[in-house]
This record gives sequence, structure tokens and C-alpha cells, in this order.
Amino acid sequence: MSQASSITITLEGTNSSASMPLLTGTLGPQVADIRKLYNQLGVFTYDPGYGTTASCESKITYIDGDEGVLLYRGYPIEQLAEKSDFIEVCYLLMYGELPTRTQLDKFRDGVTRHTMVHEQIRRFFDGFRRDAHPMAIMCGVVGALAAFYHDNLDINDPHQREIAAFRLIAKVPTIAAMAYKYALGQPFVYPRNDLSYAANFLHMLNAVPAEPYNVSPVLERAMDRILVLHADHEQNASTSTVRLAGSTGANPFACIAAGIAALWGPAHGGANEAVLKMLDEIGTPENIPSFIEKVKDKNSNVKLMGFGHRVYKNFDPRAKIMKETCHEVLGELGIKDEPLLDMAMEMERIALTDDYFVSRKLYPNVDFYSGIILKAMGIPTSMFTVIFAVARTVGWVSQWKEMIEDPSQRIGRPRQIYTGAASRDYRAVDSR
Ligand code: SDX
Repeated sequence: MSQASSITITLEGTNSSASMPLLTGTLGPQVADIRKLYNQLGVFTYDPGYGTTASCESKITYIDGDEGVLLYRGYPIEQLAEKSDFIEVCYLLMYGELPTRTQLDKFRDGVTRHTMVHEQIRRFFDGFRRDAHPMAIMCGVVGALAAFYHDNLDINDPHQREIAAFRLIAKVPTIAAMAYKYALGQPFVYPRNDLSYAANFLHMLNAVPAEPYNVSPVLERAMDRILVLHADHEQNASTSTVRLAGSTGANPFACIAAGIAALWGPAHGGANEAVLKMLDEIGTPENIPSFIEKVKDKNSNVKLMGFGHRVYKNFDPRAKIMKETCHEVLGELGIKDEPLLDMAMEMERIALTDDYFVSRKLYPNVDFYSGIILKAMGIPTSMFTVIFAVARTVGWVSQWKEMIEDPSQRIGRPRQIYTGAASRDYRAVDSR
């Protein structure tokens, strides 16, 4: 990060002005460093939703929303989705470089050896209703990992940060699969060290003690691709939540649980589940035009789920890859015609010819097609956001580590513009 020049802010009507550094990163817009603004001019900035606010310096992920570009540590998502796999992408996001064969094997072994959870964690599940939403279980059980691993919670010790990172990347899929099995009333399936990350996850989701379960290479590749595409995404709402929680010194398990909670919302990671519900409610392609009209009616408060993005004002590159993967997986599963996919493609076609969406630069995002693939893989909609959380854990952990290791990091504490009552005196209840 370098200081290219400066930006001067002047308070009109006064002769007060302040010069702020204008910083330049590797890629993307310059940023005005306003850290001294309040001290120099006595004013705050106002940016609800942080649409134009850089909350941190990061080297992990770069997004160009206008061009539809997504880079993990400089590598285009298209190349990683085609040529890499999730465990290698985890190494890349965590350490910043693609691993050598030795580094990759050591890292994969390190994650594999942390996939089991403490046997007592199984008892947490007895307290949940069988029909509890699995994201509610994820929030509770991941946060409770701090109750089992309090021996390694000194976040200022790099070695303990590393162990916590391995534990989270390795155990979140195990807990996710346990949440699914609990809902089914089936026994939990232990992890298997002889399987890949994606294959092990599918095995824990689908195996039963009564018979062997062989993971289909098609499903393994599809799951791995889905995990790669969802691994990280700059300072999105859940990652910002993890960073804010981490800035207080909270333990990494609590921070990731906070990220899971934020991801659950339908405006964020919960959108993939909402897309399937939306398609089911629409029912047939004939109903799409009337649904689109409802979306365009502001009073309906209905959104086209899986469309739009705070940053992408072009196609989300992940949505393009997900759409291609959809066709591949359905074809390889021998599913000739999937009505949901036909509906989604027709909806995309109609929306992208409608000025309401075109003028607002609303394109399909990562959630628009992912649910169709997951459904074709036999995964219920209630588990869609859980799978997003499994993938995003490595992004959250990598961003958390980067924040802790950033010498300029401080506790996050935004300010406000106050428009409430001015100071006033209390009056006794009988005099009101
Ligand atoms: C993810 O940030 C990330 O990186 C997130 C994510 C990640 O990997 O971490 O990419 C994952 O969360 C993807 C987004 C999933 N959410 C959805 O698909 C839900 C539907 N989308 C919207 O809720 C919305 O598009 C957001 C929340 C994604 C973005 O909201 P913004 O940036 O606040 O957009 P906005 O509300 O300012 O919208 C601008 C206009 C508004 O209309 P006007 O006031 O200009 O008339 O577009 C409209 C909005 O009403 N609009 C939509 C719409 N999204 C925006 N109208 C209908 N359907 C939509 N989906």
C-alpha cells in the first residue's frame, strides 16, 4: 500500500480544511485515509452499510464488481475452480501461495487429523429438537468448541492460532454432517482419513452403518467445486462480522460462530435456500412473468433471490461457473430435464431483458444456481447455507488470522450520527 497523493476536505463556510493521504493498493480504487478526519475537522463520515468504506487492508481476495473478477491471492476463480481443489485453496487462502507437493501433503494431513470432534459434543445434539434448523445447531455447537479447546485460545500465540485454524477447517464439516444426521434420526458417521475433504464430507452426510457407501466421483468433484467457489469473498457481511468479533480478542470459535450467524440471513448466505423456496413457490415457467411483476412492485417487498450484489454490477463469476457445473452434474447424474434448472434459466433470461434489473445492474449471484446443484446431489434446502458455512470457514479463518497479525489493527468501534432527543430532565411518572 503506498500513498499516491492526498485528498483535501474543506468545510464550506469556514476556513477549515484537512488533507488526508490517498492510498493505492495493488488493484482496485484508491482509498482516502480518513483516520485523522475527526481530530482535524471534528466530523465523522456517514456510510450506512459501508458501501464505500474500506474497513481494513487485506491481501487475501480481490473483487472487481464492474468487470466480474474474483481473485484468491491473485489467482482467478475460474482457474482455481478448474485446476485446483478445496484443500489446496485452503492452503492458498491461509498462507498466500500455492503449496509445493510436500507442503500440500503436510497441510492436508494436518486438517485430516483434526476432523473428529470430542465425543461429548455428541451430547449437545440431544438438547436440540430434531426439526431445529441446522444453522441454529451450527451457531451453537461451533461456538461451544471453545468449551473443549480452551487449552489453545491464546490468540497472540501464532502456533495456537494455527491449531485453532486447523480445528475449525477440519471440524466444521463434521459438525455440519452431525446436524444433518440428527435431523434424519440416523447415527452420526465418523470422519474417514482415507477420503478427500469433499468425499469425507459427503460420506459423513450420506453413509449409514447398514451398508457401505461409496462416494460418487461426480458428486465429490461437484462438492469440491462448490466449496472452492464459496471459500472467501473479501469483506462481506459475515467476514466483517468475524473481523469485528476478532478485533475484541474473542476466541476464534466464538468469532466463526458469529460469522455463521451473520451468514444465515436470507440477504447473505441464506439466499441459496431462499432461491429454491422461490422457485418452488413460482411452480411453473408460466408464472414467472407475474412473479417478476411482483418483484418490481416496491410495495410487495419481494426480491428476486439469487439476484443482485453489493459489489458485482456485472455477472458474479461464481454464478457463471456454478451454472456450467449445474449442467455438468445433472448430465453426469443422468438427469435429463430438471424443471428447477429450466425455471432458473428462464427466470435469468427474462430478468436480464427487463429494464428494472438491467438498469439496477442486477445479475445472478453465487446463490442463484448453487441450490439446484445441491438439490440434484440429494441435499435438502435446509442444509444449503450450512454447506456455504463449511466452505466459508477457511475464508473467515484466513481473514481472522490476517486481522490478528495486522500491526495496525484495533478494536472495531464505528460511530454514528445521533438524531435522538437532546438532553432533557427526568419527570416523575405522575407528572407525565
Ligand atoms: C451473498 O457481499 C458478498 O460478497 C456476499 C456473497 C459472499 O460470497 O459472501 O457474495 C454472498 O450474500 C450473495 C447475495 C445473496 N443475496 C441474495 O441473492 C438476496 C437478494 N439480493 C438482494 O437482497 C440484494 O441484491 C443484496 C442484499 C444482495 C445487495 O443489496 P444492496 O447492495 O443493498 O442493493 P440495494 O438494496 O441497494 O439494491 C439497489 C436496487 C434497489 O432498488 P431501488 O431502491 O434502486 O429502486 O436494486 C433493488 C433494490 O430494491 N434490488 C433488487 C434485488 N436486489 C437489489 N430488487 C429485486 N430483487 C433483488 N434481488
